[in-house]
Amino acid sequence: MPASSYPEEVAPPLMAVTFHVYDFIQASSKSEQKLKAIAFVQDYVMNPSLDKTFCDEASLESYGLMPSQKGKVTKGELEAIAKYMFSFYNQENLLKLIKDQQEYDDLSEGEKLARKHKCVSCHKQTLYTMSPPLHEMWARYKDRPELMRESITNGSQGKWKQSRGAMMPSFKDLSAEEIDTLLVWIEKQ
Ligand code: HEC
Repeated sequence: MPASSYPEEVAPPLMAVTFHVYDFIQASSKSEQKLKAIAFVQDYVMNPSLDKTFCDEASLESYGLMPSQKGKVTKGELEAIAKYMFSFYNQENLLKLIKDQQEYDDLSEGEKLARKHKCVSCHKQTLYTMSPPLHEMWARYKDRPELMRESITNGSQGKWKQSRGAMMPSFKDLSAEEIDTLLVWIEKQ
């Protein structure tokens, strides 16, 4: 979510399937529509066929008919999966996801890296947990950033009394540019 296409895609994204099926199910009320949609998924996954499918011709041509999942999944499990599909993949969640993605895209590169590698779960801006606060690290090393680079790559222990022997893990996979980006981020905290 949101639905996206991949070059080697073998089936349409689940979100697209969910929206599509729901739109095609005829019913007199929303609750009936949901029940019918769940029943459709339960039946179709076990017995897929061309006369039942809601897929358009172009999709059928590129993906083919889905293989039956008989024996691989139970009817009860399908009910649970279908309920999940029709409650999770809705307009409201889609909008929320797009908004969250937008917020993430707007973060600085340093913040993205710090979140990705969980620097932020140990290091806070000012609070001393077991890990030194970011602004204190910058104050100590701003004239010797190479020492920070070295500790980020190889880890560190015993340099901060208040950390009481807690270890900073090593991040050997970070490139020199990524570490520079993280240092710019630390400076701004
Ligand atoms: C599991 C917790 C943890 C994570 C995750 C973590 N750190 Fe640390 N970090 C520490 C601790 C604890 C210390 C203090 C180690 C010491 O006393 O030498 C430290 C120290 C440091 C230091 C100072 C090292 C020195 O030589 O004094 C820097 C710079 C640093 N961390 C940056 C980062 C960055 C950047 C990340 C993310 C890529 C990160 N840390 C992820 C726990 C963590």
